[in-house]
Amino acid sequence: MSNRTMVAGNWKMNTTPAEGAALAQAVIEHVGTPGTKVVFGVPAIQLTQIQALTSKAPGFYVAAQNMHQEDSGAYTGEISARMLAAAGVDYVILGHSERRDYFGEDDTLIHAKILKALAAGVQPIYCCGEKLNIRQAGNHEMVVGKQIEQALFTLEAEQMRQVVIAYEPVWAIGTGVTASPEQAQDMHAFIRRMIHNYFGQDVAESTTILYGGSVKPDNAEELFGMPDVDGGLVGGASLDAAGFAAIVKAL
Ligand code: PGA
Repeated sequence: MSNRTMVAGNWKMNTTPAEGAALAQAVIEHVGTPGTKVVFGVPAIQLTQIQALTSKAPGFYVAAQNMHQEDSGAYTGEISARMLAAAGVDYVILGHSERRDYFGEDDTLIHAKILKALAAGVQPIYCCGEKLNIRQAGNHEMVVGKQIEQALFTLEAEQMRQVVIAYEPVWAIGTGVTASPEQAQDMHAFIRRMIHNYFGQDVAESTTILYGGSVKPDNAEELFGMPDVDGGLVGGASLDAAGFAAIVKAL
C-alpha cells in the first residue's frame, strides 16, 4: 500500500528571495492545511526566510538542495549540515542528477553527505535514477540498484527510517516526458524490495519513495495512484503556485 506522504518542490536555481516568499505564501494559501507533508526545496539564500514561513504553517517544510560533507572549514561557498540544522531546515535533497552530472557527485560522496545530514538531524531526500541509454539497454534496475546499495546500504535501520528516496529517471527530468505509471511503479517496487531485503519489512513499508520527472497537475493523480508511489519530487511545476497546489491535492 502506498504511504502517500509527501510532495516536495525543487525550485532549483529559480526565484529571487521576494519571488520565493511570494511563491511559498501562495502555495500555503492555495493548499490550506495539507493532509501530507509539503516541502519547499529552495535556493540556499532563501532557506531561513522560507523556514520562517513553513514553521508557522502546519504540514509545510523546507529543504536545502545540497550541502557539503564536512562539518566546517576552508570550503569556500559551501554550507554544512550543522548550518542547515541550526537554521531549522528539515530536509536536504542529495544526489540529484544535476548534482551528479554538472558537479561530478558520485555515490561515495553522496553517501558521506547522507551520513552527515543524518548526524545533524536533517532528513535526506536521496535521488536516484537512470539515464535514457541505460533504460533503453534494459539495465535500469541494475543501475538504480547499485545507486541504492552504495548510498544507503551501510546505514542502521534507525537511520534509514529518516531517509526519503526519490526515484527520478534522468530522461524524464525537465523533458516533459514522464515515466508511465507502470514504469514508476515497477521501479518503486524494485527499490522497496531492496530496502526490504536489507533493512526488513518494517523499514521497507515505512520508507517514503517519491517519483520525480515531469510531474504535472494532469499526470500527478495517475502516478500517485500506484501502490508504491508515495508522493512526488516536482521541479518545473513547483514554480507555479496553483499548479503545485493541484499536485499536492492529487496526493
Ligand atoms: P521536473 O524536475 O519536474 O522539472 O522534471 C524534477 C526534478 O529535477 O526534481
